[in-house]
Amino acid sequence: MSKPRPILIFDSGVGGLSVLRPIRALLPAAPIVYVADSAGYPYGTKATSEIEARVPALLGRLGERFDPELIVIACNTASTIALDAVRAALDVPIVGTVPAIKPAAALSRTRSIGVLGTEATVRQPYVDRLTEQFAADCTVIRHGSAELVELAEAKLRGEVGESERYRQILGELFVKPGGQDIDTIVLACTHFPLVQDELEAASRRAIQFVDGKEGIARRTAWLLRDTLWPEERPEDLALFTGATGIHHYREGLARYGITRVEKL
Ligand code: DGL
Repeated sequence: MSKPRPILIFDSGVGGLSVLRPIRALLPAAPIVYVADSAGYPYGTKATSEIEARVPALLGRLGERFDPELIVIACNTASTIALDAVRAALDVPIVGTVPAIKPAAALSRTRSIGVLGTEATVRQPYVDRLTEQFAADCTVIRHGSAELVELAEAKLRGEVGESERYRQILGELFVKPGGQDIDTIVLACTHFPLVQDELEAASRRAIQFVDGKEGIARRTAWLLRDTLWPEERPEDLALFTGATGIHHYREGLARYGITRVEKL
């Protein structure tokens, strides 16, 4: 029998695990290969041109090696910059992750929305377009935080971040013009749902946090609705493009059902 073709879930680091979980819930029999581009991490502080060059090339190589049924770019930074280029270059269905501004606009009562992403994501024209299309009657306030990405990575390594650091990051968003009215925050980086509990605990205001992971999982399941999955699913695999410190993530990855961890 031919080797089962996996779903490939891709991020710069461990943020894509927030997307893996709802995909696993909808497609329990699907083999999954999770790829963290740890050698290129973090994406959020890099120049747009660097991500534009790196992501399609890397996904091209991964596509050849794993022949996936579908690729999920579980990274807002990579998706808002390189989604079109990846789709044009690869002959495989690609599901991207873009800031959940549409559902946030549907929920906000104050019509003031915060978009918390990486620095690279919040400056993308893609975010301008989502805002114009879905939140034209809202004040949309953007904030990029590399520290929050690092706090999520650290959590997966078992390190506890102080509540004060989360409070400060939220404070940086709230002090921007119009920030005092924010009632809804888009978690526009896949790392951030991993620390949503910490953000909620640190927030002095009642805020609803919104992200797109459930929608991505539904879209993935729908695109693969006719796929026959193997009766026995192979062990899920996580691959890191850089070797440094991989072992620190083993326990955290095991909580997401990933017990095989290797260097690409
Ligand atoms: N998880 C990624 C995102 O959704 C990027 C984090 C980073 O590498 O800076 O934007």
